[in-house]
Amino acid sequence: MKALGPIPEGFEALDGELAISGRKVSDLVAEAGRTPLFVYSRPMIEQRVALLRAAMPERLKINYAIKANSFAPLLAHVAGLVDGLDIASGGELAMVQALGIDGARVSFAGPGKRDEELRAAIAAGVTLNLESENEARRALTIAGELGRTPRLAIRVNPDFELKGSGMKMGGGAKPFGVDAERVPALAREIIAADCDWRGLHIFTGSQALDAEAIIETQANVLDLADRLASEAGTDLPKLNMGGGFGIPYFHGDTPLDVHRVGRELEKRFESLPQTLVNAEIFIELGRYIVGEAGVYLTRILDRKDSHGETYLVTDGGLHHQLAASGNFGTVVRRNYPLAIASRFDAPAEEEANVVGCLCTPLDRLADKAHLPRAEVDDLVAVFCAGAYGASASPAAFLGQGQAEEIIV
Ligand SMILES: Cc1ncc(COP(=O)(O)O)c(C=O)c1O
Repeated sequence: MKALGPIPEGFEALDGELAISGRKVSDLVAEAGRTPLFVYSRPMIEQRVALLRAAMPERLKINYAIKANSFAPLLAHVAGLVDGLDIASGGELAMVQALGIDGARVSFAGPGKRDEELRAAIAAGVTLNLESENEARRALTIAGELGRTPRLAIRVNPDFELKGSGMKMGGGAKPFGVDAERVPALAREIIAADCDWRGLHIFTGSQALDAEAIIETQANVLDLADRLASEAGTDLPKLNMGGGFGIPYFHGDTPLDVHRVGRELEKRFESLPQTLVNAEIFIELGRYIVGEAGVYLTRILDRKDSHGETYLVTDGGLHHQLAASGNFGTVVRRNYPLAIASRFDAPAEEEANVVGCLCTPLDRLADKAHLPRAEVDDLVAVFCAGAYGASASPAAFLGQGQAEEIIV
């Protein structure tokens, strides 16, 4: 038997089934028309942003990194709750523009921005988090051609990382940002050119659950930002401190203590150095805002035995749930939180493997899980599916196609 991850708070049984935002999964599937289906909960996203606002210092602004989930109705909902949006491509720019979101609320980080992406972002008034000297010069040339004053910030490759984070984005050689020691010179160069100087972006990692590690990193980020600004001889109008707030996916994970992080940040904000005193200070979060508010629903197509093990074969799989299958940056595969959604309040009575419909041994949703006995046509729920599910899985693989998505 292998343990399942913890089901996030806020999900209940209604008439024996899993309910999301008070609606039974069978009704949600009927409304959407088919499985596999992602269901996102509006109230859970609202509660999450409210929790963050309550825990963090009042002056801290919150950006949503849309790479986590860019389903248009969800994006429109989140955009109304947060202060700004972070994008990572021209395609994501088109998504925010399609929703009529003002470019002034948007910043664009990502190595390898094409000229046409720079042009579209500058024309839209988006802040570019510059990833290299070369990119800075291209942006200035393009802005000159457009007759626009570009909003420019520098993404720093810091000399430290977010400890314990699932994905490290700083410390040592990286394709992201400009090495810290070269930032002051680049800042002086772009400030001397015709630009709207928007300060620094320092992103150090993601999926951290340890409050201590985040507190330490945030202190390091503030110190580094001050040092670089002082060396450049400028104050910072804006600082994006990165994020990295994680969510519990696996057995034994405990939720991040955001109140503790917020209290420590508040203390730091009480004595900010001159370079930061007037800065707008942001964090940028993806999964923390939407991850736990999403459920992936898939239907059991077959129930079979092999060498004494039970397999529940579903109509979903890694093409929508790459991370849950253990193939998105994990070293050792562990089970995500999962349940038989159509028997949500039934007791566990057997050990079963839940797999997808793809013809590859990688396509696993739960290994040796302790579950209620499930039959063909039952619905399976994979939790923590609100971030990096549909947006980060190979939907075209084996001709399977996209899942449905709804927000309720
Ligand atoms: C620059 C940047 N911002 C934001 C994020 C979002 O991270 P998360 O969804 O873990 O909050 C990432 C993730 O890799 C990132 O690289």
